[in-house]
Amino acid sequence: MSRVAIVTGGTRGIGEAISVMLKEKGYKVAANYGGNDEAAKEFTDRTGIPAYKWDVSDFDACAEGVAKVEADLGPVDVVVNNAGITRDGTIHRMDHDKWQQVIDTNLGSCFNMCRATIEGMRERNFGRIVNIGSINGQAGQYGQVNYAAAKSGIHGFTKALAQEGAAKNVTVNAIAPGYIDTDMVAAVPAPVLEKIVAKIPVGRLGKASEIARGVCFLVADDAGFVTGSTLSINGGQHMY
Ligand code: CAA
Repeated sequence: MSRVAIVTGGTRGIGEAISVMLKEKGYKVAANYGGNDEAAKEFTDRTGIPAYKWDVSDFDACAEGVAKVEADLGPVDVVVNNAGITRDGTIHRMDHDKWQQVIDTNLGSCFNMCRATIEGMRERNFGRIVNIGSINGQAGQYGQVNYAAAKSGIHGFTKALAQEGAAKNVTVNAIAPGYIDTDMVAAVPAPVLEKIVAKIPVGRLGKASEIARGVCFLVADDAGFVTGSTLSINGGQHMY
């Protein structure tokens, strides 16, 4: 029996690597995306993984999106809350929209997606939820009060929901990636990024596939005793 997995933000960056690796491991994968139709079409053509467009910051859209995936692929066993955005800037220059968009997209989405899937997981006595946090939610980062707050919130959300899910074989874990070689990190100004990379003991940016490996470990059927944990994958940049 193939398990059904939804990966939010699953057509690009870290999410793409997660979608592809889960498919390689035999999961039936639905890759959600928010806006980039062209990238999503190219992703589906290349990987054969269906892409589903909805805004994860919208509660009703998540319920509708999950219903559509379930109609197409079957009940959802695995949710990877990966979708995320940055709107970096120091707080004295940050408008309220940049705060709210990041909180709603990065953290609100975890509630929206888990709310839409948790009852089914509980009824079937199986579920695997992985929330993608960040080193910057653990350690903070200059210019990211919005992002650090949302990602830090994800780590608290994970530990609370892990306690609720435990008796129903629904595990909930987080991964805290460091700086990974994606478009998001490429958008950091080059001189700033150089200084950051200089502080990574492994001496390079991470690869998206190195996060996907962690996800595959956490969602496995035989990972039922791993819950409420945070797996840091950051090249040794922050040991938490
Ligand atoms: N600590 C202390 N001071 C800092 C600093 C830091 N980390 N970074 C910058 N500053 C200082 C600068 O030295 C500068 O001071 P002076 O004016 O005295 O020289 C001042 O702050 C302004 O710096 P900038 O010129 O960079 O300011 P800016 O307004 O042009 O840009 C910024 C500010 C947008 C926050 C920019 O610094 C930036 O993009 N920083 C990177 C933020 C970052 O790491 N984002 C991660 C994105 S990837 C991601 O989030 C994925 C993940 O999960 C890891």
